[in-house]
Amino acid sequence: MFDLLIDLDPSRGRQAGLEDALRRGVTSGQLTAGARLPSTRALAKELGYARATVVAAYEQLVAEGFLVAAHGAGTSIAAVPRAPADRPRVDRPPRRYLGDFRPGEPDRSSFPRSEWMSSLRRALSASGDDLLGYGDPRGLEELRHALAAYVGRARGVVANPERIVVFGGFANALAVLAEALRGLERHMIAVEDPALPFHPELCRRAGMDIERVPVDAEGVRVDVLAQTSAAAVLVTPAHQYPLGVALAARRRTALVAWARSTDGWIIEDDYDGEFRYDRQPIGAVQGLAPERVVYGGTASKSLAAGVHLAWLVLPQALVEPVVETARWRAAVSTIEQAAFADFITRGRLDRHLRQMRAVYRRRRDAVIALLRAQAPWLTMTGIAAGLHGTVELSGPVSREAEILRVAEAHSVGMHPLSVHRHAPGPPGLVIGYSRPAGHEFTSALERLGQLVSVLPPSSG
Ligand SMILES: Cc1ncc(COP(=O)(O)O)c(C=O)c1O
Repeated sequence: MFDLLIDLDPSRGRQAGLEDALRRGVTSGQLTAGARLPSTRALAKELGYARATVVAAYEQLVAEGFLVAAHGAGTSIAAVPRAPADRPRVDRPPRRYLGDFRPGEPDRSSFPRSEWMSSLRRALSASGDDLLGYGDPRGLEELRHALAAYVGRARGVVANPERIVVFGGFANALAVLAEALRGLERHMIAVEDPALPFHPELCRRAGMDIERVPVDAEGVRVDVLAQTSAAAVLVTPAHQYPLGVALAARRRTALVAWARSTDGWIIEDDYDGEFRYDRQPIGAVQGLAPERVVYGGTASKSLAAGVHLAWLVLPQALVEPVVETARWRAAVSTIEQAAFADFITRGRLDRHLRQMRAVYRRRRDAVIALLRAQAPWLTMTGIAAGLHGTVELSGPVSREAEILRVAEAHSVGMHPLSVHRHAPGPPGLVIGYSRPAGHEFTSALERLGQLVSVLPPSSG
């Protein structure tokens, strides 16, 4: 039996009223194409109508094209075209590239499904019914403990489980944090330029004013930051997004000094800090000043974007404002949280990261070698860490669009650098190497090779 909520108008009579209600449901979008209707017998019983009345109404609507009746499969809603204005705005389905070098996501095919499933099974079978309540607004206690231990040993973060809040992704965490800061009358936030465009946008929607601070070869320009009246700064110190530089040691010190002297907050977005290839991992800035830094971690790169799990490690002063802002609306399924806690404490995250670090390092080396051999004028930088690199181009910004047009024609995906910039700067390409599935990477690389072989050397 499929539940059906319909709004019957008794003045229309039984059959006509039922037909009207179903027509309205379809045209308004309440009943969507493919949705199954209850059987005539079940609906008749529920409404207290003769079955023949419901059969007649269904037949009439099948004849009108609103419903489809498939033999043995019941009756369902037909695909009735709706007026364009009625259609909800949704993202276009992303294009599938044969060479997918867009940054932003790890290899989905490498997600450790069976380990995750066993953590999920263990979490559900080992837990009591308390797991299924709303839970602590900061997140499940065992996950906060597991995360505190993990970020402490893996990223050098000084973390106390009491100060950790779990979110459904860093973007959510940032939106809540910005709103909490706004509530504390701190309404100016500085962001790196270039940066991921929707991060400042989320802050703006939370009521913050935005300052842009340029990035150079040593990371964010703390001297420029110091000239602003920002109360907080959002930074990506381990691997600047998108340029890929690491924040130099003296800049880290200067950043912390800025925060201390201005009562400012550093928001450290450590989105891909686990992937470091050439040197010892660079620890989080948070370790230098736990009372001035909000540390943000995410599973979007280390596991998969679709798991939507991220966490903030907060200075004591921000715990209550953030928890109060997040209360009732930032929760993540406690079942997923329990699974993640099990996954971390059993060492499965570490093992997965060890494996993937080796995979991505090989891919990165292959992309670098290909560019060196076939297009030496395209030099990829920011490659010591993370899952992407950047290629700066000479000439006008239109160069990006030219190359991306050729790339599209070769079914190669990559991102333009300019969309990340606020102030004008040299054009470039952001090239990720983590997206293709393992078995597709070689052919993706061939596609990239074909693309660069047709680009004129002046493209660099
Ligand atoms: C710069 C940056 N920060 C954070 C994230 C992770 O965000 P989320 O946890 O919302 O997926 C990403 C992922 O693409 C990123 O590129």
